Amino acid sequence: MGFAIAAAAKAAGWTVDLVSGPVALPEPAGVMLYPVVTADEMLRQTDALFGPCDVLIMTAAVSDWRPKVMHPQKLKKDGAGLTVEFEPVPDILATLAQRRRADQLLVGFAAETENIEANALAKLDRKGIDLVAANSVAGPDGAFGNELNRLILLGRDGFRQALGPATKTVVAQQLIAALVARLAAPAR
Ligand code: C5P
Repeated sequence: MGFAIAAAAKAAGWTVDLVSGPVALPEPAGVMLYPVVTADEMLRQTDALFGPCDVLIMTAAVSDWRPKVMHPQKLKKDGAGLTVEFEPVPDILATLAQRRRADQLLVGFAAETENIEANALAKLDRKGIDLVAANSVAGPDGAFGNELNRLILLGRDGFRQALGPATKTVVAQQLIAALVARLAAPAR
């Protein structure tokens, strides 16, 4: 979805920086790609690009937890069980939102399995962002690994717009068009 949005934004005439974890997708033409692997790298890279940016759209499904200890070598089995301790991963969107300018538009994604709109709206407040694109990841027509997607774009001011169901390419074009309309509106 992130790659489709980057391509749609480029086609709309935006200057696009795409920060991406490892994927098997072709690089969209005319977009500046910043490959990263870890959430820390993604935070550092998005933080470095955030200052002058007008719109930040975070689609990355960042892991919420990481193992506290990294072992450089393979762990040998010794017949006993294994307990892995996890620590939280920094929330990139919430971190950047803390130093946002009022004229920047921050858009998050909310992949939900139930109570989609209520959970997405709670996320909007919690992360301090303007818009959240909520989608269902439950069931056979869920968003993950699917060519089709359906989003509900929700704003903290009561804004609500359904996007799709359509291919991710078309949904991405609809999302960018909605953001262009919103940026042109006097207040948000
Ligand atoms: O909290 P949750 O993962 O459901 O929130 C989803 C939104 O937050 C997405 O826009 C995702 O890219 C972003 N996120 C983030 N850093 C994390 C986890 C999620 O920026 N560590």
